[in-house]
Amino acid sequence: MIRIRSLEVFDEPLLPHFLAIAAHEEEVETVLTNPALAIYVSDWGRDGDCAVVAENDETSAIVGMAWARFWTPDHQGFGWINELTPEMAVAVEPEFQGRGIGTRLIEALKCRLRAVSLTVRWDARHQKWVPTSQPVEIEQPEMRMPTQQLALNVRDGSPSVQLYERLGFQKVAGSERQNRTGGVSFNMLARLQEGN
Ligand SMILES: CC(C)(COP(=O)(O)OP(=O)(O)OC[C@H]1O[C@@H](n2cnc3c(N)ncnc32)[C@H](O)[C@@H]1OP(=O)(O)O)[C@@H](O)C(=O)NCCC(=O)NCCS
Repeated sequence: MIRIRSLEVFDEPLLPHFLAIAAHEEEVETVLTNPALAIYVSDWGRDGDCAVVAENDETSAIVGMAWARFWTPDHQGFGWINELTPEMAVAVEPEFQGRGIGTRLIEALKCRLRAVSLTVRWDARHQKWVPTSQPVEIEQPEMRMPTQQLALNVRDGSPSVQLYERLGFQKVAGSERQNRTGGVSFNMLARLQEGN
């Protein structure tokens, strides 16, 4: 039986392994030495970081992970939308793919993210809400803002696009960019809260 649960501190060393699967890289070293990829797992435990794992009950092995991080304008992943939109990464061990584990991981991550909120304030100059970690020109009252949407970045033509669409993600028009392997990737977004 495969059980989905929250990522615990003792699971954190496995993040680079699943990042390598998500990035289609053979070696963990390759993702950790590439700053554009390493930021998906480095310094894990920042405000808003959220992750779930799939655990094989019989062996206690972790066979899949889905996780999400918030970015800033200076520190962002390929699926950057804005400061209030976390980006998801997901991977399942090859021998466990195609059995519904990715679906369960993404649904569980979305569910947990609905309860994740950031402390924000209104940036009057740029007319948007920003996390309090970022400076604003005029001091404003703070409030807690629940996570509204979840982003991801995917290679054009990946079989996972159909999976994401089934789980409520829609392609972000105009987000196509050349990726690090020379192909095209784009962003997708899913709403997390009712009525928006
Ligand atoms: C994408 C991934 C997390 C999905 O997890 P999963 O447990 O295989 O997914 P599920 O069994 O819940 O859903 C199956 C769907 O995933 C997609 N899928 C199946 N095999 C896949 C693969 N090797 N790579 C990507 N997507 C795949 C298909 O849409 C499939 O739907 P179908 O069965 O109707 O064809 C997993 O296949 C994986 O880790 N793939 C390699 C890494 C990757 O592509 N990550 C996404 C980067 S954006």
